[in-house]
Amino acid sequence: MDLSPTETQALVQKTARDYAERAILPRAAAIDASEAIPGDVVRGLGELGLLAVNVPVDLGGSGAGTVAYALAIQEVARACASTAVTMSVTNMVGEAIAHFGTAPQKSRYCPVLAQGDRGLGCFALSEPDAGSDPGAMKTTARRDGDAWVLRGNKQWISGGDAAAVIIVWARTGPIDAGTRGISCFLVPAGTRGLRVGKPEDKMGLRGSHTVALEFADCRVPADALLGRENEGFKVAMMALDGGRIGISSQAIGIARAALEESVRFAKDRRAFGVPIGDHQAIQWKLVDMQTEIDAARLLSLRAAWLKEQRRPFTREASMAKLFASEAAVRVCNDAVQIHGGYGYARDFAAERHLRDARVTTIYEGTSEIQRLVIARSALA
Ligand code: CAA
Repeated sequence: MDLSPTETQALVQKTARDYAERAILPRAAAIDASEAIPGDVVRGLGELGLLAVNVPVDLGGSGAGTVAYALAIQEVARACASTAVTMSVTNMVGEAIAHFGTAPQKSRYCPVLAQGDRGLGCFALSEPDAGSDPGAMKTTARRDGDAWVLRGNKQWISGGDAAAVIIVWARTGPIDAGTRGISCFLVPAGTRGLRVGKPEDKMGLRGSHTVALEFADCRVPADALLGRENEGFKVAMMALDGGRIGISSQAIGIARAALEESVRFAKDRRAFGVPIGDHQAIQWKLVDMQTEIDAARLLSLRAAWLKEQRRPFTREASMAKLFASEAAVRVCNDAVQIHGGYGYARDFAAERHLRDARVTTIYEGTSEIQRLVIARSALA
């Protein structure tokens, strides 16, 4: 067993780290405060191939694989979690189109998503009344001549106001068909009938906008269907399996940042005549933080490696997402505690990391859903 990265993986990791340290980290607090990711940050990710790490080269991607993708997300999340989720969703959407799309769909959208300068990828599955249970969605798509007409509302859509293309799920079969009556569509930004809501006023990830989308008799041509009619639910599940590797990597990146800042603070800050890092109370926190981060890394990279080997990875991706997200919340909470009063103030990044980490246990499947997926596999 060899845990060292290949030359390509190491190169992608270094590229992401150098760019994140130079162009993103110094602006992370401002991205949070201004609730916006500067356009040049996203364009830079595109220029370096980081918006399509696992998309084939002939479609404009880097073709570097899932492990490289996971390593790159970690590095960007270590600098800025809002930028990392933008990167993660765009990679997920590009990969889904590359995997399930027709040749015209791939050539139309994949290169655009890989560059990022004309908009990003967006994944519209959740609805106001259907989050953990997307099989209960109410959005419909009705066939009308050579078009599909979409009607319904989506909610909690990351980057929905900055999309080049939105993958949308809608019911095309009867309600009693459940998950077997759902199809998937590609809706380009600006399509008539697509209305974008105001960004949610969120606890964290404030640089990444989360919006509601309304499809008010939104008409798309027949060839907007992604994959087969009534088989869209599996497209969502397969995309989310890969997405969960991305979110576990994001959680790890946030936790690494919190740990690094805690170590620095523990060396500088003095109490009772010594640096607080000399006190066992702090040392044990730092040790637990480091150990949990390493465990999360191993789980996440195992899932990424299995995916890359084209072996089953659904359970492993859920384990990685579950453990990494919950560990990140614990690590970031401890980082605030180590910083004391400074941890509760915006002058230090600790409070931002805790706010940013919290959502990783919720989106792309809550911890409860990950446990459900793992339990089903254990009891199968
Ligand atoms: N891969 C391929 N196929 C899968 C699959 C997978 N991982 N999981 C399920 N399927 C298939 C099943 O085999 C089944 O196929 P058949 O119809 O042929 O039998 C079909 O899908 C239905 O499966 P289930 O009966 O298991 O479906 P379910 O309704 O019980 O749901 C679930 C399963 C795992 C709970 C699923 O609903 C789920 O993942 N829920 C969470 C949704 C989620 O993660 N939402 C996140 C929103 S997106 C987001 O957050 C992005 C963002 O903005 C950052």
